[in-house]
Amino acid sequence: MFTKETYAQRRSRLAKDLGSGSIVLLGNKDLGMNYAANTYPFRQDSTFLYFFGLDKPGLAAIIDVDQNKTTLFGHDPGIDDIVWEGPIPGIKELAASCGVEYTAAPESLSATILKARQSGQSIHHLPPYRFENQIMLAEMLDMPVRAVKERASEALIRAVMAQRSIKSAAEIVEMTEAVNITRAMHIAVMQGAKAGVKEAELAGLAQQIAYAQGKGLAYPVILSKDGQTLHNHYHGNTLQEGQLVLGDFGAQNSMYYAGDITRTCPVSSSFTSLQKDIYSIVLKAEEDSIRACKAGIKYKDVHLMAATIITEGLQQIGLMKGDSAAAVEQGAHALFFPHGLGHHIGLDVHDMEDLGEDLLGYDENTKRSNQFGTRYLRLGKELKSGNVITVEPGIYFIPELIDQWRSEGKFNDFINYERLDALKSFGGIRIEDNILIRAEDSVILGDPIPKQIADIETL
Ligand code: GLY
Ligand code: MN
Ligand code: MN
Repeated sequence: MFTKETYAQRRSRLAKDLGSGSIVLLGNKDLGMNYAANTYPFRQDSTFLYFFGLDKPGLAAIIDVDQNKTTLFGHDPGIDDIVWEGPIPGIKELAASCGVEYTAAPESLSATILKARQSGQSIHHLPPYRFENQIMLAEMLDMPVRAVKERASEALIRAVMAQRSIKSAAEIVEMTEAVNITRAMHIAVMQGAKAGVKEAELAGLAQQIAYAQGKGLAYPVILSKDGQTLHNHYHGNTLQEGQLVLGDFGAQNSMYYAGDITRTCPVSSSFTSLQKDIYSIVLKAEEDSIRACKAGIKYKDVHLMAATIITEGLQQIGLMKGDSAAAVEQGAHALFFPHGLGHHIGLDVHDMEDLGEDLLGYDENTKRSNQFGTRYLRLGKELKSGNVITVEPGIYFIPELIDQWRSEGKFNDFINYERLDALKSFGGIRIEDNILIRAEDSVILGDPIPKQIADIETL
């Protein structure tokens, strides 16, 4: 945990930003995998972690802004809990550890909210992503379950985003650690990638390091010879000479900050000449994008710059043609680069996505595109100093998409379809790093993770 003053300061700024009313923040509960008592590993809600730092199931809190009073709701452990789970701190001890003065039993949460509502106070809540919390909020706030998300407090969402999207120096230390654990995972996987090895063995190796050095995975491992499937969780193939293997995985460190790194390496000891050509385009898009990032730059412009680099690179090797600016404006590049350049990262791998992508990533000056490809860009607006984001361009050869566009005669002026038949089993290449935005530039978090062709081949 950070110091209790850190959490108290965060809550006090939240209350100040809201100005009035009561804020209800629900922690997560244990969740059954296949029956109630066989639970998924517990993962606390990230906003609850941010404001309270408490990594225990079944907690909730009310910040009464008008009375300047924060109450933590939770059970004291009974002897049965201690027999099964070992010594557990009581609710008062938990509250003290994060600077909260008042505690209450969870059964009184509903009555406290009812009393606040009856007194005419507005109750601010966040959009839940777990059904248990959604149902609980519906009952406590006396609204239909389906209304709970849409009636979430925009003022509270904006206030939470304002704080969580600017990382403190202490958070950067944690995020750097998460990337360094993730670095160890990637180096082990690149070293282990050779013909005859199963994808599942490499995925297991990555997970072993994540659990040994941190709190496990920040998201399920993506690792495949079929890197053209963007989120490929199938690990059933045995690697063969000549293939590429794309690995997109990251650890969460002991404070639950996420790393989200992608590397692509050859199964053989070196890249083929065509693999090198395409890898070099992705690498240029990634490195130039990172160089372009700083406070005040719109991330959507960096995305479009990366799309232009990819388009011009593909033109040089004869896969695209025509005017590159027109190709990018019309979205022809999305045949090869059909996703966004990156997203916020922090306590969540796609940080604060539960609070609403458009509120987080766009504003009145930057509207979300509805074009295939660019519409998946989760973050478009101006970057701020203290943002931590990913930069993750890629080039993919998706046979089904190639066939569909070709049959529709789509972008015949920009795409050399006849050259793509030979590339339908190429796979995909993505390179992803996590960067901190600063006033005049950006910096990659963590120790360098090999990504130059020669360095990867050496590994
Ligand atoms: N790991 C998922 C992503 O890069 O967004
Ligand atoms: Mn990723
Ligand atoms: Mn990512």
